Amino acid sequence: MTHKKLFIKTYGCQMNIYDSERMSSMLMLHNYSMTQEPEDADLVILNTCHIREKATEKVFSALGRLHLIKEKKIKKGLTFNIAVAGCTAQAEGSEIAKRAPYVDLIIGPQSYHELPEMLERLKRKQENKKDSKQVVETNFTTVDKFDALNAPYNHKGPTAFLTIQEGCDKFCHFCVVPYTRGAEFSRSVDSIIEEAKKLVSQGALEITLLGQNVNAYHGNYSKYSGEVTLGRLCYELAEHVPNLKSLRYLTCHPRDVHLEQIEAHRDIEILQPFLHLPIQSGSDRILKKMNRKHTVDDYKKIIDQFRQAQPKIAFSSDFIVGYPGEKKQDFLETLKFVQDIDYAQSFSFKYSIRPGTSAGFLEEQLTEEEKGERLQMLKQLLDSQQLKFNEALCHTTVPVLFDRLGKEKGTYIGKSPYLQPVHVVSSEDILGKILPVHITHSGPNSLNGTIKN
Ligand code: 5AD
Ligand code: SF4
Repeated sequence: MTHKKLFIKTYGCQMNIYDSERMSSMLMLHNYSMTQEPEDADLVILNTCHIREKATEKVFSALGRLHLIKEKKIKKGLTFNIAVAGCTAQAEGSEIAKRAPYVDLIIGPQSYHELPEMLERLKRKQENKKDSKQVVETNFTTVDKFDALNAPYNHKGPTAFLTIQEGCDKFCHFCVVPYTRGAEFSRSVDSIIEEAKKLVSQGALEITLLGQNVNAYHGNYSKYSGEVTLGRLCYELAEHVPNLKSLRYLTCHPRDVHLEQIEAHRDIEILQPFLHLPIQSGSDRILKKMNRKHTVDDYKKIIDQFRQAQPKIAFSSDFIVGYPGEKKQDFLETLKFVQDIDYAQSFSFKYSIRPGTSAGFLEEQLTEEEKGERLQMLKQLLDSQQLKFNEALCHTTVPVLFDRLGKEKGTYIGKSPYLQPVHVVSSEDILGKILPVHITHSGPNSLNGTIKN
């Protein structure tokens, strides 16, 4: 078998980062090695995101650049296959095939285990020059995927992602995920423990459990009859994965918060006191229009419960501004709500119409200017809360997991329990260690400190 080079560019969320790692693991068994330069590659995979319009636009402009490389390489008689994977491939596969006919392969997130077979099919088609059609696979075959992807996982570094749940049955009216990732699916506890052990044996100290609705997790476990919650899964991982030092999970839905999840934050030492719990809007009227099926008050009660169980816990959220029909009053309620909660960090976005979602059909769409103004005001408030949160950590000591080198020699960057980057100077190599750091300076986006001996 000839040796081939693979370049992967990943857009979007952590689930895509995880999927890219799994795809590259699998292709390494098929004689590929990684390259950091698309020009050197025989196969380029764009692992795409469809969550907002901008994310999709990025894919088409990257395809334009790859087309130029492909033309040059083909002139030289070299192979250059372009694959589009991920959520845009799933949602707009036929659009991509039409707009970018030079794309060779289109593959949805549920079909990654079929990639080697698809590449074989592509090779046969290319050898038989009359058949110039692309190879496309966008069926939903969720159940097979994780088992079939069970290639030796060549994870590197002290932090790792592990997808435990995929898809969504909530159908928030703005969101494309139920259409791109399909129905909710949970992996078994046994397969998750096995993968976690493998990651730890390859050097991971921290694992972040991933799912579009991670706390809707309801997997089977050979040790129990009945389904297991996310909270229970955290207890099992803490007990059965020796040497796992830190555990996190992303992304939660308020409606799926359960007692075992809250208790897990009280009881499990390695579970980090930081929770991403998106509310999207601070107005009950808008939450109803969004089909979120919870109120502002429900959310506040959940926050109180977590704070009682784990006083060190801090929160982050996602917000959408300018949802169709959002009045000034609704937006002011969001600002007031943010003030009440006091977030450590948050993400905010202008509402973006997504094809096929019901909010796209609503009248009362706001103008880009209105959305932009509101976004700026909300961002300002969230930024000031973030700075305040960071400043409160000054002169305290926090455990930091060092996972990167700094720019200058002898400098290292790690992350705090609240995911702030922490910069330190050290004469010893501290990569892959968790050390207590005394915070001496805090800025809006990062902290500085000294290692405590
Ligand atoms: N427009 C803007 N933001 C969106 N999000 C999801 N769909 C849209 C959309 N149509 C945001 C939500 C979600 C995050 C991942 O992306 O806030 O929590
Ligand atoms: Fe983007 Fe959502 Fe797909 Fe992640 S799951 S890549 S956020 S559309």
